[in-house]
Amino acid sequence: TATPRVLSGIQPTADSFHLGNYLGALRQWVALQDSHQAFYCVVDLHAITVEHDPETLRRRTRVAVAQLLAMGLDPERATVFVQSQVPEHAELAWILGCITGFGEAGRMTQFKDKSSKQGTSGTTVGLFTYPILQAADILLYSPEPGPGERVLQVPVGEDQRQHLELTRTLAQRFNHRFGETFVPPGAYIPETAAKITDLQEPTAKMSKSASSPQGIIDVLEEPGPMRKKIMRAVTDTGTEVRFDEENKAGIANLLRIFSALEGVPIEDLERRYEGAGYGRFKKELAALVVDTFTPIRERTLKLLDDQEQLDRVLAEGADRAGAVARGTMEVVRDRVGF
Ligand code: ADP
Ligand code: NA
Repeated sequence: TATPRVLSGIQPTADSFHLGNYLGALRQWVALQDSHQAFYCVVDLHAITVEHDPETLRRRTRVAVAQLLAMGLDPERATVFVQSQVPEHAELAWILGCITGFGEAGRMTQFKDKSSKQGTSGTTVGLFTYPILQAADILLYSPEPGPGERVLQVPVGEDQRQHLELTRTLAQRFNHRFGETFVPPGAYIPETAAKITDLQEPTAKMSKSASSPQGIIDVLEEPGPMRKKIMRAVTDTGTEVRFDEENKAGIANLLRIFSALEGVPIEDLERRYEGAGYGRFKKELAALVVDTFTPIRERTLKLLDDQEQLDRVLAEGADRAGAVARGTMEVVRDRVGF
């Protein structure tokens, strides 16, 4: 049987990815490039669903790609590309939009959450149809139906389940109306993905949009501030390094980070730091975080120094993704009657 495919995307909406992105998603991307035929895209079309500045977007897209490569994505083993460089994403999104019910799209809870912050009059149609573009991102890489078919897996967090469900619905609806075209993708919930919380508000998600600068650790941050943020992370009035989500959310979060970065079970860490106090625990975690991200920061900066090389990587990624996407669209266009 053929190697399964995996598809995932990330928005270029900040100047650096953060620790939550790394442990919750990007680290798994790197791991999956060997077991899967992997397609990873920086989704700049999604990034313009909210007001944006063109130069900032251009810079962030490139920094995002450089970070992905610096984290270990290898253009020889995975297809890394920028969404807007493969125009089929927008074309398929249009077609899928035409088989999506208005009410069906209106039930997407992420849109309700995001638009309620801005009020529906301040929101865009692009934000409303975002999940349809996401469905297109996925289905373009849906393998051909038939014997020996590959499986397309999409790594998703809990918040993306509803969007993946819509993708599956649209795939089935398209097949039903126009003939077998898409293999509905499966969800892939990586076991190793850790949910990381805010260092200052340890019950809230670490998030680029909601976290304060002290609550979030950026992958590209300098060692000094990185250490300081860990040392100043909110804990509790106790002294025990013990995993207790309910009563010790801060320590629980630091334990999750430690365990994920070092690859050791949390129980081992509890034993290692028995009687040690929070100071030593935090200091050693800070060293681990700095050691993990320093080489990634250095490689990112080096990649950004050679813009021509980065352009070559992107052109090649767009070529490879584009070849698959054009193949899918050839069938889709014919089925639809174009
Ligand atoms: P943010 O929440 O900072 O806006 P995104 O929503 O763009 O980040 O998420 C990009 C990817 O990173 C998604 O796969 C998401 O599940 C993952 N991710 C984001 N924040 C965290 C977190 N705090 N812990 C674990 N994974 C996260
Ligand atoms: Na691969």
